[in-house]
Amino acid sequence: MTRVFSGIKPTGPVQLGNLLGALRHWVSDQDEADTIFCVVDLHALTVPQDPAELRTRTLELAQLLLAIGIDPARSTLFIQSHVREHAELSWLMECNASFGELRRMTQFKDKSDQAEFVSAGLFTYPALMAADILLYDTDRVPVGDDQRQHLELSRDLAIRFNSRYGDTFIVPEAAIAKVGARVMDLQHPTKKMSKSEDSPQGTILVLEDLDAVAKKIKRAVTDTETDVRFDTAEKPGVSNLLAILSACTGTTPETLAESYTRYGDLKSAVAEAVVETLRPIQERFAELAADPSGTAAILASGAEKAQAIAGPVLERARTNIGLLPQS
Ligand code: TYM
Repeated sequence: MTRVFSGIKPTGPVQLGNLLGALRHWVSDQDEADTIFCVVDLHALTVPQDPAELRTRTLELAQLLLAIGIDPARSTLFIQSHVREHAELSWLMECNASFGELRRMTQFKDKSDQAEFVSAGLFTYPALMAADILLYDTDRVPVGDDQRQHLELSRDLAIRFNSRYGDTFIVPEAAIAKVGARVMDLQHPTKKMSKSEDSPQGTILVLEDLDAVAKKIKRAVTDTETDVRFDTAEKPGVSNLLAILSACTGTTPETLAESYTRYGDLKSAVAEAVVETLRPIQERFAELAADPSGTAAILASGAEKAQAIAGPVLERARTNIGLLPQS
């Protein structure tokens, strides 16, 4: 059975891009693959975090993943720091990644340009991400388009490790959807929607008030011409709305474009589709939030299941790289 692994950082409220670009695929992958999903709290530490807030956000993110439909009976759901193998394999990855290839990561360049304090962890972030993936003999990694370069590096590191030290890791494939893999900011449609971006009117949060969601969509920036057409270069605003509607309905953006002649009608349809996508998630989240001990139990058993896979894979890597076994 195909093994699927993916992760999400507890660094801010989950936004529509996370849901449409990645999380909805996590849910559907459960029908056909052996699925493992992780809240990557160690990755959150690459930028300064308030400790109490980080703990709260980590638990809430796990609850949200359950609310969108991650089913603990079919998937392994766990917190990255609960499985210590991640940190250890990350070191082996760091020692096989070059300074030059880490320096070329566009996410590092973007984030370090804006940051006052650039941690060493922010620089080596992709080595930890490679460790996350490789620890589970992962075949496929469902992510949004912004993770493409990190996935490419994970593959390169797996191939390099295998050629230097003998067959150790499965070389994973990125699974990046055709539609919804780059949801754009509603006010700045040439920039991706982001939970850390300072654009509250352009960002839809999964747990946001639904009236506010509809208003933001109706106020989304469109383009100067008036026709509805899917053309991301010439009409980024309208194309973003069509892509969001497509991700919510399953109809292609090109076909949807033929059904609308006015921006107003398109925006109303998008607002309704997004609100109806979010409503059941919000209801389920409220139920789960009322029972944090239920989620904690799911995460404890998830960490145990994850560790049972990660332990032997790490052992394989330790042996092949030449670390002396403990007797
Ligand atoms: P993170 O936490 O930033 O985002 C989680 C997932 O959401 C996708 N995403 C988007 N998709 C479409 N449009 C957008 N505007 C948008 N914004 C975010 C991301 O591509 C991602 O799939 N480095 C990862 C976390 C990670 C990971 C891993 C992922 C750590 N280890 C191992 C996969 C496998 C990250 O920062 O995602």
